[in-house]
Amino acid sequence: MSSRRQHGQQVEVRAVDPDEQLAWLSSSRRTFLHPRTVTPEHVEHRRPAWEGQRLTGAFDGERVVGTYRSWDWPLPVPGGPGHALLTDHVSSVTVAPTHRRRGILTRMITADLRAAKERGVPMAYLVAGEAPIYGRYGFGAAVGGQVLEVRAPAPLAHLPAPVEDVVVELVEDADLRAEAPALHAAVAASRPGAVRRPERYWDEVLGLAPGPGEESSDRRPALLARDATGAAAGVARYRTHERWEGMRHDTTLEVSDLFAATPAAQAALWQHLLSVDIVDRVRVTDRPLDDPLPELLHDRRRALPVEASDHLWTRLLDVPAALAARGWLGPEGACVLEVHDALGLAGGRWRLDLEAGSVVAVATAAEPDVSCDIGALSAAYLGETPLVALAAAGRVRGEAAAVARLSAQLAWRPTTWPTLGHF
Ligand SMILES: CC(C)(COP(=O)(O)OP(=O)(O)OC[C@H]1O[C@@H](n2cnc3c(N)ncnc32)[C@H](O)[C@@H]1OP(=O)(O)O)[C@@H](O)C(=O)NCCC(=O)NCCS
Repeated sequence: MSSRRQHGQQVEVRAVDPDEQLAWLSSSRRTFLHPRTVTPEHVEHRRPAWEGQRLTGAFDGERVVGTYRSWDWPLPVPGGPGHALLTDHVSSVTVAPTHRRRGILTRMITADLRAAKERGVPMAYLVAGEAPIYGRYGFGAAVGGQVLEVRAPAPLAHLPAPVEDVVVELVEDADLRAEAPALHAAVAASRPGAVRRPERYWDEVLGLAPGPGEESSDRRPALLARDATGAAAGVARYRTHERWEGMRHDTTLEVSDLFAATPAAQAALWQHLLSVDIVDRVRVTDRPLDDPLPELLHDRRRALPVEASDHLWTRLLDVPAALAARGWLGPEGACVLEVHDALGLAGGRWRLDLEAGSVVAVATAAEPDVSCDIGALSAAYLGETPLVALAAAGRVRGEAAAVARLSAQLAWRPTTWPTLGHF
């Protein structure tokens, strides 16, 4: 073992005591390159969010040189409302630049995944800061997202009925507090991978609970769409970046949140956003990969993806439990699936039987039809990443027909939705 590795082993990985939270938060922010000094007030502000969460630190003597946070949280899986898995949500992962590449992350994450497995939690997920980090621990890129940019004004060609009944109100962020949370929860429940937002997220993001030194932003513009009964049916939050060159404007309207319960409400919000005067482009982040916007437009090339990337990475910890928890729409049939797991947490060989919209996985010694690593199955589990694409990259093996059928069985539409709260 090299001396660098031995040095890493002297570092202690353990739960963080309350009086160590300031050092823990400072270390995390420093490694994430956030410039602001952390004060006791910042810790007080964050503390309610940490209630019920597991804060882990890597300590070199008294110095915090690594941070890690996780908590149990439900995540929607394919099958529609009511289909969700309890998962281990992982966040705040850092190792100080002075202590990197000595195995400290490996120690923190393997201990956390083992503990989750022991608690009976069937899946873990996180947002990866960099793509090469988490595959080695069995995570796979499962939820994609895109940024769309629209040249404005952009007329809509198709208006789903009854768009004429939808009324769009121009409001401010603070006005969304009463109705947006329940609407978001209802919309997210039907999209695999759409992270449920905790109540306190709304106070923070709507500017109602500014942190120390922050100004309230509750007066930012927002749209609230109401259906014919007056019920909230859609929300859009945005800000504008106004720029003039002489007498010509070059203004961007940036949409940070847009969700709706019905196609009509979604179209009504777009109709409003894409026809605001003095706006030259509308940019919207965190859209699902099957976003209907281009299909709504008279000229679909006015809405172009300017970025598409992976968002959530998932890691199955109990394959039979996870497969049983999701819904299935694909072709019925059976196959033997072999899953390898280098961490020894979730590997095995099962006969999967898809019948009447559900799958039962029974352990078997029969020859496998399809085999893959746990990361590949985790990537495909939420129904968006095609198993056939992973096979084309050599990450799934088996007869082409067997792989194609399992791929069709795992697929789910609508796709995932890259939404996340500040936790
Ligand atoms: C990413 C980070 C947590 C890794 O911590 P670490 O303690 O250095 O990781 P480990 O030493 O346990 O690395 C284990 C393996 O993963 C590799 N690895 C770790 N981070 C990597 C990265 N960003 N890119 C590529 N490989 C990486 C290591 O080289 C090592 O490989 P090896 O076993 O073949 O030698 C740390 O570098 C960091 O805090 N980076 C900045 C913040 C960040 O990106 N956090 C993640 C947010 S989700």
